Amino acid sequence: MSNKKLDFFMTILGLMLLAVFVVSIVGYGKDLKRAEKRVDSIADIEVPAVPSVTTNRLNGVVSAEEWAKHYPDIYASYMKNADNKGHGSSRISYVETDPDIKVLYDGMGFSFDYTEAIGHNYTLEDIAETTRPHKLANCLTCKTPDMTAMVNAMGTQVYATDFNEVFGKVSEPVSCWNCHANTPGTVVITHDYMANAMGDEIEAGKVPASSVSCAQCHIEYYFDPDTKATLTPYSTLDEIAPEAIYAYYKELNNFTDYTNKNTGVGMIKVQHPEFETYYGKGSQHAGMYTCADCHMGVAYNEKTGDPYANHYLVSPLENTELLISTCSLCHSDLKGQVKEIQAKVTAREKEISGLLVQVNEKLAKAVEAGSLSEEKLAEIRELDREAQFYWDFIYVENAEGAHNSKLSHACLDKAEELAKKALELLK
Ligand code: HEC
Ligand code: HEC
Ligand code: HEC
Ligand code: HEC
Repeated sequence: MSNKKLDFFMTILGLMLLAVFVVSIVGYGKDLKRAEKRVDSIADIEVPAVPSVTTNRLNGVVSAEEWAKHYPDIYASYMKNADNKGHGSSRISYVETDPDIKVLYDGMGFSFDYTEAIGHNYTLEDIAETTRPHKLANCLTCKTPDMTAMVNAMGTQVYATDFNEVFGKVSEPVSCWNCHANTPGTVVITHDYMANAMGDEIEAGKVPASSVSCAQCHIEYYFDPDTKATLTPYSTLDEIAPEAIYAYYKELNNFTDYTNKNTGVGMIKVQHPEFETYYGKGSQHAGMYTCADCHMGVAYNEKTGDPYANHYLVSPLENTELLISTCSLCHSDLKGQVKEIQAKVTAREKEISGLLVQVNEKLAKAVEAGSLSEEKLAEIRELDREAQFYWDFIYVENAEGAHNSKLSHACLDKAEELAKKALELLK
């Protein structure tokens, strides 16, 4: 190689090295900036000022789409909930996987149509498709902000309005308005029954608003027998224990959701008490994390590194960022641990539903044969109702034991004991 050629080559090489150096310095600077932007938890994200948006929608509910251009990252993460289709085309039907419920829920819709829960985007499609009967608009309580806004504007009689009349007026699935009203960033409890039950508790600092935002729907609730309005069976945090809820229904003239067709016993149908298990006695993390910490978490804009609240609501086990940054500080194998908890709880649920089916069938036979005194029958009916309540409280809860394994086993212990007592009396 001639000297000239060598010079030229060395210059090019030098320039290339310089370029690599500059790029890495800039990249390093960016990383540093990004590192500076990292926040410890979702509550530490700086909340941007609320842009003004006007809408023609019913009752002024601004839709998620109308907020999209102001909150592109949040909107995109919110829309990702559409990816949560459960097991997709083979969406789990609990009627098939847990046939005992055909007997235990006989007399109500869940005995023939009960599928796994999926993402928030599908709430309206799901209710349109279910074959469970729904006469009144109160079924829409947890499905759309349009319903909630209607209740707030016109009063609780909306709950008792004909389902189809209200369904024709709603179009937005669970969205921004449910948790923020029209002020994204500030958590607003829009559902009247939850604001009544937990408003003071939030004020007193006993429970964070961000958790109560989920508790507007992920709770045990009931429809008032007279007004048909949606209500919670408690009005303070101290009353959310399953025993207190059972006592509340007993006090309420033995409130019943349906009468079991085989036995004639008035039963309570528990819904989805994720709030009650997580904030219940024995919860490991209740004082440490909010629902949003585990099911939302922080995400970062790919270009700027700016943090934003992740609105894709999934299992914490599917959130790698969260597992690594937070949970792994104490848990070396959280996935394995949760799997084990859930496997134990699920196995016991199956075992106990088997006992409850035996109670149901033997009781039905005894009633038909007229072989037992009214007094004894009354005692067995009460045992049946109570045992199934404690079993249902855990069976229908979506964390399957992970929120609070202690409380889950305590409820299952109770259910088992009560069912065995009933079987003893039916011998
Ligand atoms: C306005 C009612 C409402 C509110 C508020 C709400 N949810 Fe939901 N959520 C639902 C309904 C209804 C479903 C089931 C949808 C379906 O299956 O069609 C659901 C489903 C889910 C699922 C999917 C369940 C699964 O098994 O895959 C998760 C996770 C979830 N919600 C978490 C949350 C969290 C966390 C919050 C609070 C930040 C919250 N939700 C607030 C009504 C609500
Ligand atoms: C199911 C309830 C729920 C829904 C639906 C919801 N949010 Fe949020 N949002 C929350 C919670 C909880 C937080 C975190 C509050 C905290 O911990 O401080 C939050 C935080 C925020 C923040 C402040 C943090 C940040 O990243 O800037 C904004 C802004 C926001 N949400 C906008 C929206 C928008 C826009 C939508 C609709 C596309 C929406 N939210 C839908 C519950 C919800
Ligand atoms: C400061 C330590 C610490 C951190 C951080 C932590 N955990 Fe835990 N966690 C514990 C302890 C202690 C227990 C109870 C003992 C055990 O089961 O390992 C526990 C138990 C659990 C359980 C089982 C609860 C039950 O009732 O059996 C779950 C689920 C869980 N943690 C989830 C999480 C998630 C998700 C994160 C991250 C967001 C997290 N933990 C972060 C200490 C921690
Ligand atoms: C300490 C972390 C933690 C907190 C806080 C927490 N959960 Fe969970 N949650 C879990 C775990 C773990 C599961 C089981 C996930 C799985 O099976 O993959 C779960 C499951 C769920 C599910 C079923 C969804 C699914 O993907 O399986 C719902 C719905 C839910 N939680 C709602 C809530 C609500 C509402 C709150 C607040 C009242 C809450 N969670 C608080 C850890 C948490």
